[in-house]
Amino acid sequence: MLNILNVNIKNKIILIRSDLNVPIDSKGNIISDIRIKLSLPTIRYALNQNCKIIISSHLGNPVEGQYNHLLSLKKISIYLSKILNYKVILKKNYLDGIKFKNDEIILLENVRFNIGEKSNNDILSQKYASLCDIFVMDAFATAHRIHSSTYGIIKYAKKSCAGLLLINEIKNLKKFLKNPLKPIISIIGGSKISTKFRILKKLSKISDTVIVGGGIANTLISLNHNIGKSLYEPNAILLAKEIMEKYKNIIIPVDSIVSTNMTNNSLIKIREINNIRKNEKILDIGKKTINIIQNKIKKARTILWNGPVGVFEIKNFRKGTESIINAIINSNSFSIVGGGDTLAALELFNVFDKISYISTGGGSFLKYIENNQLPVTSLLENIS
Ligand code: 3PG
Repeated sequence: MLNILNVNIKNKIILIRSDLNVPIDSKGNIISDIRIKLSLPTIRYALNQNCKIIISSHLGNPVEGQYNHLLSLKKISIYLSKILNYKVILKKNYLDGIKFKNDEIILLENVRFNIGEKSNNDILSQKYASLCDIFVMDAFATAHRIHSSTYGIIKYAKKSCAGLLLINEIKNLKKFLKNPLKPIISIIGGSKISTKFRILKKLSKISDTVIVGGGIANTLISLNHNIGKSLYEPNAILLAKEIMEKYKNIIIPVDSIVSTNMTNNSLIKIREINNIRKNEKILDIGKKTINIIQNKIKKARTILWNGPVGVFEIKNFRKGTESIINAIINSNSFSIVGGGDTLAALELFNVFDKISYISTGGGSFLKYIENNQLPVTSLLENIS
């Protein structure tokens, strides 16, 4: 991919597509700013090159054509202004052109308010492209989406290149996929199950050991045991069976923390995995499983992790995820961690700087590992 560092962007109008899709609470506070922080190097570089800068992003999933103040980028513009110490102006109407004033960055309002964004509408793509001299794609976390602001625009922009975040993400993912030091251990958990079975196949092929937790583990456990009221994916049972028969390097939990309730005050029990009661939910891994995982992590030289192994947001069900984090940060291996919930767990324990590489991607991270490419990166690789 053409790297922004190898393009003459001096004094040009550049449009940077970032992924500023950060979690925001009901009071409008940004809960995690990691994606914003990791988007700053490209913006700062463009500022140093004296560019006129336009930034675009989506936030959440609004209905196209309908303004929704809850998903406005207003709070992001305020946040960017503060962190960059620079004027950042939010523009609501921009598709027919932008007039720049000196010393300001323009942040385009949520691109998903525009009709045609998600269907990669050609006219919309052309309009985005006409705003700039150079398009810089930096939204790794949205690079698996064939949308107008991520993909279609590349067809029409005078020039396109990849930003520093995108380049760095691909470099690290390639390091994992091409030359990983062995043994490799992959840990896959979380509650979004259906999309993860395909990646489980791929990870089983390339890893020495795959540890599963969360809803994906429950689905595998359910093949042989009662899982009570635990979260699982009934539609994935056949696939789960096929995977367990074919790949013998997958470790499923041998014990778990269960409860009938999902609160901090709930009565919790440790159960062997063959002893879960009908009214119980599996909400974390148990002690024996933690020991198995810690031993595997100790021996690993490369670790990939996506998805917590318990409901870590609630104290009662946090131990498993916490013990994985501790094992990773105490090992000397190359560790690569991605996914929204997983980053939230790292943030909770304040250990960002102890992980070798943190990916901003959730879906895109898994898709890249599965296919060794993403629609947007393939397109960018084919232009010069
Ligand atoms: C993400 O949060 O994974 C990215 O911002 C992409 O968002 P999307 O899944 O709504 O396209």
